[in-house]
Amino acid sequence: MTLTVVVGGFFGDEGKGKIVSYLALKDKIDVAVRTGSVNAGHTVVFQGKTIKLRMIPSAFVYDKCRLLIGPGANVNPKIFLKEVEALKVHDRVGLDAQCSIIEEKHIVRDRTDEHLAKKIGSTGQGVGPAIEDRVRRVAKLAKDVEELKPYITDVPYEVNKALDEGKKVLLEGTQGLFLSLYHGTYPYVTSRDTSAAAVCSEVGVGPRRVDEVIVVFKAYVTRVGGGPLEGELPMEEAKRRGWLEIATVTGRIRRAAPFNFKMAKRAVMINSATQIALTKMDVLFPECKGVREYDELSREAKEFIERIEKETGVKVTLIGTGADVFDIIDRRGEFMRR
Ligand code: IMP
Ligand code: MG
Repeated sequence: MTLTVVVGGFFGDEGKGKIVSYLALKDKIDVAVRTGSVNAGHTVVFQGKTIKLRMIPSAFVYDKCRLLIGPGANVNPKIFLKEVEALKVHDRVGLDAQCSIIEEKHIVRDRTDEHLAKKIGSTGQGVGPAIEDRVRRVAKLAKDVEELKPYITDVPYEVNKALDEGKKVLLEGTQGLFLSLYHGTYPYVTSRDTSAAAVCSEVGVGPRRVDEVIVVFKAYVTRVGGGPLEGELPMEEAKRRGWLEIATVTGRIRRAAPFNFKMAKRAVMINSATQIALTKMDVLFPECKGVREYDELSREAKEFIERIEKETGVKVTLIGTGADVFDIIDRRGEFMRR
């Protein structure tokens, strides 16, 4: 395994943070790159602590991993610097000179714009307006911000060089395919493409270098903000099933629906997934909580996994059975060539 891309297959919040942090520790990832922006919160539960990340790659849990933010990303310097400080990763974090910058005016615009704040239900973090300015070619870039100077690097060069040297690189996508500006439920989408190809483009690595594309699905579907959600449950029912979640960045209640096989199939197709990671199986099947061997899953849980594999044509190689990084069943040895 050399270059792995991890992306979300639904509307974000599939548990990418957990999967990425597990892979970082298990595979000893040398270089991890985060894409997207601060609208996306990734949660990692490691050594009894819950850590919510909005800029730093979730791979930070592996202390030898170089942590990068690609040129396509939008950086809020305040949030970036706060996370660097909190996680004490000064000596191994870098961001590309060409990352664009979110300024206070973008946050104000995001929160006061009727269309974005009310209709779309944006996260109010200024990401959409910052990208508008980037497209108009008036945005500030990371290289223009004094406080970011110590961390500036050439991310495409670092990543491609690491691959040339046979190192392990992981790209951490944000959000999910159905929030993609191109492939999602437009106009109820975020301000960027969220597919695996777009993640590569944001980082500066070509598609021929990719070895594995892992699409992450949660055992049920959630979405925050406006837009269609097939099979949406009334809030009371979602609560009864234990599917009620609170959004990391905005604190809003996430809308919930059962696993959507049609969407999963499409996400696998558009991302050209080679593997599926399935999270929160313990929420759907409480008897599976903390299970770390496939054979110990209940018959119902196995049938659900087999149906996903049958309908998508791709193997479910990683199965999350709890919040902790190591609450996972890893079947890669069984299925993958390498
Ligand atoms: P924006 O990305 O803040 O402009 O929000 C646009 C839409 O995408 C809204 O429905 C948000 O709730 C949703 N969204 C953006 N980022 C995330 C995420 O990381 N997880 C879940 N939903 C997101
Ligand atoms: Mg999230």
